Amino acid sequence: MTTKYAAAVQTMMGTKATDPLSWVWQWYTHWTPSPGKSAEILRLFGPSGNTLAQQMWNTCQPHGGGMNPDNFLPWHRMYVYFFERIVRKLTGDATWTLPYWDYTDPARQALPDAFYKPGGATNPLYRPNRNPGVNDGTAITVGNGGPGALNLNSMKQTNYSGATGFCNALDGGLHGNVHVFTGNTQGMGSVPTAAGDPVFWFHHCNIDRVWASWNKEGNKNPTDSTWQAQTFVFVDENGQRVVATIKDFLDIAPLGYTYKEFLSTPKSAPAAAAAVASAAGATAATLRVASVPQPVALTGKPVSLPLQQAPAAAAAGALASRSGQTYLRIGGLKADEQPGVAYNVFLDLPAGQPPTADSPHYVGTVNFFGVIAHTDGDSHGSHGAEGDTRLLNVTDTLAELARRNLLSDTPTVQIVPTGEPQAKANATLASVSLVG
Ligand code: C2O
Repeated sequence: MTTKYAAAVQTMMGTKATDPLSWVWQWYTHWTPSPGKSAEILRLFGPSGNTLAQQMWNTCQPHGGGMNPDNFLPWHRMYVYFFERIVRKLTGDATWTLPYWDYTDPARQALPDAFYKPGGATNPLYRPNRNPGVNDGTAITVGNGGPGALNLNSMKQTNYSGATGFCNALDGGLHGNVHVFTGNTQGMGSVPTAAGDPVFWFHHCNIDRVWASWNKEGNKNPTDSTWQAQTFVFVDENGQRVVATIKDFLDIAPLGYTYKEFLSTPKSAPAAAAAVASAAGATAATLRVASVPQPVALTGKPVSLPLQQAPAAAAAGALASRSGQTYLRIGGLKADEQPGVAYNVFLDLPAGQPPTADSPHYVGTVNFFGVIAHTDGDSHGSHGAEGDTRLLNVTDTLAELARRNLLSDTPTVQIVPTGEPQAKANATLASVSLVG
C-alpha cells in the first residue's frame, strides 16, 4: 500500500497546481502556506481567480481559528475520504486503502520507514522539514514527553462536544502532539504547511480510526441538526466538485470502509478513583486552582504554579462529572506563532528532580498546533478571546502519587518546554485548574 502511495504522491507532485487532483491543490485544501490563499490564487489563476479553489482552499476545521471545535473530526474524515479515492484511482488498484500510522503503540512511534528511507528528492514521501532525529527513525516522542505523550486518554471523554469534549481533547492532545513532534514549523508542526507532508494522511487516517473506535465503544456523536447540516466542498477522484454534509460522515459503515483493528479506551486502575477522591478531598468539582492573575509567559524556562484549594464558588462552576476521572485543565492558551516546541506538564515535581517523562509526576504534553489563527495570509495570533483549552487526564498519576505518598499539601504544576521556543512565539496560558 505504501509503495503504491509513493508512486501516486509522485504523480500528484508532478501535476500542475491548477488541477484539483494535484498535490498542491489537495494540500491547499487544508491550508495554504505563506503568502496565503489570495496570493496563491492570483499567482496560479491570474486576476479572474478560480471559484473551486476559492471554495475548497483553507477549509480545515477548526485549525483556521474561530471555528466550531466539533467540526474537527468530520471535516478531516471528509478530507481523508476523498483523498483516498483520488490516490486509489491513481494506483489503478481498486483495493488500495490508505494505511494508518499506529503511533499509540509505543513500538511504532518512529516515522514509518518509507517516509525517510531513502532520503532526499528521489523519495516522494521524504520531507526535510521534520524535527531532528525524525528522518533518522528516532521515535517522535524522544525529547518530547516520552511514549505517554501519545496516549488515548481522550477516549475516556464520554461527551463529544465543546472545549472539554472528546473531539477537542483528541484534537488538542494526541493529534496536535503528533503534528509538532513530527514536523518543524515549516512542515507538520504548523497548520499552513502540515498537509504538504505525505505523512499527514497516515496520521489523519489514524485519528479517524480513534474516532471510529470511540464510537464503536458506544459513545455518541452530536445529534444537533444544524451542526449535522454543515457542508464542505471537496473533489472526487475525477476532479469533480462534491459537497459533503457532516451528517453523512458520522459513521464509517455507510462510507464503505472499516479498520483492521480498533482501539480501546485505556482503563484506569480500579483503585484510582477512590484514591484520587481522598487525595484531592472532593469529587465532581473544581478541586484546586492556580492563581494566575495575568497570562503566564511560556518561554524557554520552566514555570511552576501553586495549586490552591478552590473556593466553593469555583466548585459550583465545575465540569460535569466524567465517571471518576480527574483532569488538569490548562486554559487560555495563546501564541502569536508556533513555538516549535512542546511543553511537558508535571504535578508536584519536587525541586531538583529531573523533568523527564518517566517521572511519576509527568502528566502530559501540551502543544500549540491548533492555537494559532490563520487567515488568508500567514498566522495572525491566536484565535478567540479565550484561547484554547487542553485537558490532561491525571487520574492515574494522582492515584499513583497518593499511593506512594508523593503528593504535598500544596501541590504545584510545572510546565517545562522541550526546547527554546521561537523568539516571536509569545506563548501564554491564562488558567490552570484541577477538575473532577
Ligand atoms: Cu487540520 Cu492534523 O490538521
